[in-house]
Amino acid sequence: MFNLKLPSALQKVDHPLLRKVDCELWVKRDDLIHPEISGNKWRKLALNIKEAEQKGFSKVLTFGGAYSNHIAATAAIAGISNLEFHAMIRGEELNPNSNYCLQKANEQGLNLHFISRSDYAELKSIKDWSRMGEEWKDTYIIPEGGGNELGVRGCEEIYNEIELAFDHLYCAAGTGTTAAGILRSLKGEKLHIVSALKGGGFLKEEILKWQTKKEKKHQIELIEDYHFGGFGKVTEELVDFQESCKTEWGLELDYLYTSKAFFALVELLKKEHFPAKSRIVFYHSGGLQGNRGIREHKSQ
Ligand SMILES: Cc1ncc(COP(=O)(O)O)c(C=O)c1O
Repeated sequence: MFNLKLPSALQKVDHPLLRKVDCELWVKRDDLIHPEISGNKWRKLALNIKEAEQKGFSKVLTFGGAYSNHIAATAAIAGISNLEFHAMIRGEELNPNSNYCLQKANEQGLNLHFISRSDYAELKSIKDWSRMGEEWKDTYIIPEGGGNELGVRGCEEIYNEIELAFDHLYCAAGTGTTAAGILRSLKGEKLHIVSALKGGGFLKEEILKWQTKKEKKHQIELIEDYHFGGFGKVTEELVDFQESCKTEWGLELDYLYTSKAFFALVELLKKEHFPAKSRIVFYHSGGLQGNRGIREHKSQ
């Protein structure tokens, strides 16, 4: 029904820097899964939608910000699913015409509910929505960003699809759900998680919380210095880097997550951090639809 390109491509990248340090770099192209339901969004939503369908729910409710990749992906699914989709959007001052992302979501049939930031924080923590009135009786809840057990389980597939022995995997993190799923399925490889948030130190605990094997903690490294000012923030340096990645590396990256993670990886390559013959995988978690929002914001 969704016409997805799965398993997603694993592409080898060539660059003089890689030749210099004698390392191989492969990119797991989840950005190519689908133009709108791309990257880790599909991974985190897939099993949740299946669960809602199999358990016979008639509605799905989720939560997000006005430019969120999660909301964009949920809206695209709403456009082709038989379920009725609702989203609580942070910001009571907004409306379906506030930006192109909300406009599109609205057109795709996602029912948008605009709520204040304080109500949003309260509502997203409610576990039992059947108490919230008749309207929500038969509703399957997907937490913000798809961060639940089924979201983590969906992300286990990222590693399972990689049919190549490698040493290191780099990915970006916001909630840590994606990294948690990858870590669950990793064998002996190292997972390097680049926080897109300032003060992302909590992510380590968050990611380990989803693991049953406690020894997994030895396989992860949390990189906290590449947030470029914090979540949702971009600097001129990052914008220039994102631009140069297209021509130099043949990669289109999003500003908020994958550019930050790839920047960290390129810095480490420049510092000759990896032993010769290392094979590195970079996880492209998509999010390109969000770039338009950042560009619009910057040009205002
Ligand atoms: C493009 C992109 N990459 C990475 C992430 C971080 O994923 P997670 O919140 O699972 O850590 C997100 C947010 O979901 C995202 O939109």
